[in-house]
Amino acid sequence: MNSIDASHFISFEGIDFSGKSTQISLLKEFLEENHYTVYFLREPGDTEISEKIRQILLDKNHHCMNEWAEIFLYSAARVQLVAERIIPLLKEGQIVIADRYVDSTTAYQGYGRQLDLDVVKTINQAATFGLLPGITFYLELTPDELFKRMNNADRTADRLETAGIEFFKRVFNGYKQIANLNKQRFCVIDAVQSIESIHQKIVKEVSKRIGL
Ligand code: TMP
Repeated sequence: MNSIDASHFISFEGIDFSGKSTQISLLKEFLEENHYTVYFLREPGDTEISEKIRQILLDKNHHCMNEWAEIFLYSAARVQLVAERIIPLLKEGQIVIADRYVDSTTAYQGYGRQLDLDVVKTINQAATFGLLPGITFYLELTPDELFKRMNNADRTADRLETAGIEFFKRVFNGYKQIANLNKQRFCVIDAVQSIESIHQKIVKEVSKRIGL
């Protein structure tokens, strides 16, 4: 995907309860205060088709979902989002913030579900047309901390969140590998810090890389 400038494409990654949503809202607010228009997109979702796929994916009644069906559904939701929203926005020069992107599939389906990583790579390539973000913020939270936060939360877990600690240990290790393989793109941040200190790190990095 050579013709698209992805420098304004920012993704956020992390296991559940890592504080992604809070940090995305704070970054969006910061950019808007500095007179930038920001488009926030969440995965899976944010097109009519992708939101319908999201409902199938997160439904707790679908506990029998085959892991290949799972990866194809995430990827179907993604390719629709990339084609319908992300590519047109980047072509206009807009700033796009994605709550999860292709690294989630590598971490959750590749490492977590233990699908063949080469096949996952091929599927990811097809589902993104090879388009990768300019910056990926990875909020790193250990599985132990995740379960502590999950037990204290007042909302019920979705289908993925009920997967158990062994699954999340694999996802955690998966993200470590992905971050190591993508050092240029990845900015790894310890998620067990104050909200403000994480926000400041993110702002500093965005300012440096986007040249605000
Ligand atoms: P969210 O809780 O961040 O909205 O994400 C929904 C769930 O979907 C979360 O448990 C992670 C999972 N997920 C995958 O397993 N693979 C993917 O490709 C994506 C985008 C999300």
